Amino acid sequence: MGVLDDRQRCLQTQLLAWGNQHRRELPWRETRDPFLVLVAEVMLTQTQASRVAIIYPSFVQRFPTIAVLAEAPIQELLALWSGLGYNRRAIRLRECASNLLSQHHGLVPDDYQALCSLPGVGPYIANAILAQAFNHHVGALDTNARRVLSRAFFGATEQTRELQRRADDLVPAGQAWAWAQAIFDLGAMICRPKPACAVCPLEAGCLFQGRGEDPYTMPRRQSTFEGSHRQLRGRVIAAFAQGVTTRRELALRTGLSDSVFDQVYNELAEEGFFEPDRA
Ligand code: ADE
Repeated sequence: MGVLDDRQRCLQTQLLAWGNQHRRELPWRETRDPFLVLVAEVMLTQTQASRVAIIYPSFVQRFPTIAVLAEAPIQELLALWSGLGYNRRAIRLRECASNLLSQHHGLVPDDYQALCSLPGVGPYIANAILAQAFNHHVGALDTNARRVLSRAFFGATEQTRELQRRADDLVPAGQAWAWAQAIFDLGAMICRPKPACAVCPLEAGCLFQGRGEDPYTMPRRQSTFEGSHRQLRGRVIAAFAQGVTTRRELALRTGLSDSVFDQVYNELAEEGFFEPDRA
């Protein structure tokens, strides 16, 4: 607190005002329930908001509480998740619900370390929950937020720990939720990988302004091997979610060679996609 210079303070005021005026209507923004925020953030880590917005409402209608999600039949869980991709997240989310029941009295903790110890919850999701559900003064640093802050406020990509510390300092007093939304929205609508600086509310004070070297360096992209392996996993999971239950039927339906199918199936089984005694 009290560590911002005049330029940063000015950007902070402009961004918050712009965010309050242009906020996108997204279904998870109607709640501050920590569990429902957690579900949204798990979905949003690897899937675009427009796609999450389609699936989130029916998912939380079916699994509205920690206790209900902890008991979710896996096939139904995956069927509702389909369209989001990265299905392992759904399995982890269910494990997370069980863990909350057994270790945290059925409540989402408002503590960073406790959140990070949950299955599928890392620093980003922990901070996104703390900021949005508990109004803690922490920055929720996903890729978009890193890009916005690195470009406009800092003019450089900091190491993660330093970036987090500086991002926390930027949160306006008592406005952690609104601040997080403003950053998400600017990153999605204007400060995109190819930025629309001409219409950006921060243009005057931004350290990048779309000129010269971009201060934000992109994280590593997925390799071709990872991409095609993910597709194979997706085929098996899609057949399972559509109601195919036995291992033999799954192999037939997906049309994979025996060795590839076995590898993918065993990997998924180990990750908890199938009930343990399914043969
Ligand atoms: N991306 C990650 N979290 C988000 C949120 N809560 N709203 C919009 N986009 C997001």
